[in-house]
Amino acid sequence: EKDAPLTQQDKYKEIMSSFPRRDDWVVQPLYQYQGFWYFQVYLVGLLAAQENFRPQPYDIVLCTYPKSGTTWLKALAYAIVTRSRFSDFENPLLTKAPHDCVPFLEIDAARNVCNRDQEIPLVATHIPYNSLPTSISESGCKLVYLCRDPKDVLMSMWHFLRGKLPEGIDKDAYINLNHSFEIFCEGISGNGPYWDHVLGYWKASVKSPEEVLFLVYEDLKKDTVFNVKKLAEFMGYPFTPEEERRGVVQHIVDLCSFDSLRNLKANKSGVYSPDSPFTVQNTEFFRKGITGDWKNYFNEEMGAHLDQIIEEKLSGSGFSF
Ligand code: A3P
Repeated sequence: EKDAPLTQQDKYKEIMSSFPRRDDWVVQPLYQYQGFWYFQVYLVGLLAAQENFRPQPYDIVLCTYPKSGTTWLKALAYAIVTRSRFSDFENPLLTKAPHDCVPFLEIDAARNVCNRDQEIPLVATHIPYNSLPTSISESGCKLVYLCRDPKDVLMSMWHFLRGKLPEGIDKDAYINLNHSFEIFCEGISGNGPYWDHVLGYWKASVKSPEEVLFLVYEDLKKDTVFNVKKLAEFMGYPFTPEEERRGVVQHIVDLCSFDSLRNLKANKSGVYSPDSPFTVQNTEFFRKGITGDWKNYFNEEMGAHLDQIIEEKLSGSGFSF
């Protein structure tokens, strides 16, 4: 009797079973591929994206390390790109979660290449620069990278992964803060090492500034208007002086602010990607949305330790946090 043909997912799972594996994050193993560690669902998506993804002409790829502000970047880019298609009262961001407005390359687009709104040239990814599907560099797509203070990224990730644990169990036994800190510092984290993720995009942005825009969450917080204008200009959707006079930039900034998005019905309820292995409550993408929250969880000494590691890893690159 013939074996049933392997599905694509099974094929990728079989391939990755030979990759180096770490079980430090307990909930799910991490697999190493092309120098980075991935949870299985991401790696299956990455392999599928490398094999199948074909960008649309003029696509802009929004790239982030997980928990660096992807949701915010998706909302801002989407609002910028669609501002002349919709009136202020009918923008889909008011009724759909940002993750349903801009698909993820390795979740939605990889699973179904047709899963795109042809009119919206945006796709997002957590894939590191050197592992992006070659079709992206071949087509000359523009890339936007948003990075964030690693201490806040780690805390955000820690909360997020704990949220994935079932209620009523001893969460510290599974995702303990000190242990998470140690392995993050070792570079063992989903899509990590964190510093290599940042470095890949930083170097690309230095080499080809017209192709890669490098943004920082803390700067975006400090001067959102300035950075939103920069983003719009880079993406090829600059604001006209007339739009600026009418307050269009401020409107987009307000629409995409943490409080505004968090309080919309679409983000207070509903789930992202309900029929995939990557199901997340939309509320989980909106926790605090501030800078420096790490201070409420680990001490100055630990903060300094992680800072020092990052400083060493980034030294000589021209970028520092
Ligand atoms: P915290 O957990 O520190 O609050 P991602 O979107 O990459 O998953 O990142 C999630 C982080 O971005 C969370 O950080 C979340 O609260 C924050 N965030 C979500 N929307 C935001 C917004 N509009 N402005 C600022 N931060 C936002």
